[in-house]
Amino acid sequence: MEITRLISEATAAAVSRRDPGAVPGWTGRVKWPVTCTVGPGLEGAIACETKIGYIDGAQGSMLYQGYDIYDLCTHSNFEEVCYLLLYGKLPTESQMAAFDAKLKEARYLSDTLRLLDNFPVEDMHPMASLRLATTFMRYRLTWRDSAAARPRPDEAIASDEDSIPMETKPRGESRAIYEFRRQRLLRPANAGSTRDDAASMESCIHLISGLATLTAAISRLRQGKMPLEPDPDLSHAANFLYMMSGRRPTPEEERVMDVCLILHADHGMNASTFAAMVVASTLSDIYLSIGSGIAALSGPLHGGANEEVLHLLREIGTCKAVPAWFAKATEEKRKIPGFGHRVYKTYDPRAVVLSPLAEHLVARNKEVRPLFRVARALEKRVVATLGKNKGIYPNVDYYSGLIYSCMGIPVEMFTPIFAVSRVAGWTARVMEYLGNNRIFRPRSIYIGEHGKEFVPAKDRDA
Ligand code: ACO
Repeated sequence: MEITRLISEATAAAVSRRDPGAVPGWTGRVKWPVTCTVGPGLEGAIACETKIGYIDGAQGSMLYQGYDIYDLCTHSNFEEVCYLLLYGKLPTESQMAAFDAKLKEARYLSDTLRLLDNFPVEDMHPMASLRLATTFMRYRLTWRDSAAARPRPDEAIASDEDSIPMETKPRGESRAIYEFRRQRLLRPANAGSTRDDAASMESCIHLISGLATLTAAISRLRQGKMPLEPDPDLSHAANFLYMMSGRRPTPEEERVMDVCLILHADHGMNASTFAAMVVASTLSDIYLSIGSGIAALSGPLHGGANEEVLHLLREIGTCKAVPAWFAKATEEKRKIPGFGHRVYKTYDPRAVVLSPLAEHLVARNKEVRPLFRVARALEKRVVATLGKNKGIYPNVDYYSGLIYSCMGIPVEMFTPIFAVSRVAGWTARVMEYLGNNRIFRPRSIYIGEHGKEFVPAKDRDA
């Protein structure tokens, strides 16, 4: 198929640019307590070990459970990638069939949609609606609500954040020692493994399928249309597109959406994954954890950047306008949406895949083509100026919006689509972390005053 050929060509070229002798950093078992150099916002801090994903920012490579993202985009599909992330290995045919059947069953969320319908979804940002809807998915009691899930008094003391033994013992100015202690997960043995179990594979599957159903329903409700029933004959990607638009997608649209879902499924300890893990680490509920991931993803510095890119390309308008616009943006020290990354200082491998797919789709889309041309002109200018100097290259958000536009998806749904995919990584990482849980508790350094005298309100200066 044409899409697979485009992916193979783009990724072969990118792989040939990698240094085969480069030794991957940030790997190997951690011996706690670990010494690391930490910047503001926990930059550089090591919080846990993981087998789920690996990013090499210098080489522009990315793995899920040891498999190169390029191979997964070429040969796999989103359902299989979800299985891989959650269970740590690729499924056999029978394992895949059973997993797929569960995913399909979990697409039906009529109770949740009935609850959502009582809210002014058309006036809310879709990410706010999605977060709300995820909470509604937990409308039944989970074992967290049961008396059996209540911690014993000694465990309760350990879970009170202010009673936790000091984790952080600063030693020197730029280094800190983080001590970790294995803590038993407060999960009763009889908690069961159904969807109502707040930390079960069933709830992960419920959330992975559920977020696609909810995002599609939110998109329709915003347009004054009724949500659609899922089609069990369709793949996850095709059903998602169908439930949004009411039209069964072409094989090409299905494949492109599937690749987009694979590419966005996991990406290290990014802000939304971290947010989900922090909430889960308090032994809260996985539905509430994923809601926190959705909230973190909604910001323009994270998942919201793909919307910003489209607004930006429209603002620039024409290729001719690019040099003047870029000069002004540089003067104003503006950060250009869709460029730069905390980890990648070369081309984001996800942009490597998405760039030729966007080019392919715009060839048949007159409306989006002019925006794509502006995007290419801007990319050339940014890379020539900031690429080598500052390691600023297109990131995943630069081309994804153009692709979704070619499929007729409204701009405000771009970030929810990111969540439809990333829920796979969120759930996988939450489950992995809960296997060896330790409540997150970094510290801040107090820079305020000490010993201030309390003055009654009537005597205070204005
Ligand atoms: N455009 C222009 N210059 C940039 C950009 C950009 N997008 N990003 C970073 N820079 C410059 C900074 O101005 C800074 O320059 P200086 O050293 O002269 O001050 C230098 O590169 C380093 O910038 P930092 O802000 O320290 O880089 P950081 O790693 O903190 O930022 C981030 C990463 C937040 C993604 C940033 O590149 C950005 O804001 N990009 C635009 C928003 C975006 O596309 N976000 C999506 C990221 S991918 C994702 O979340 C899915």
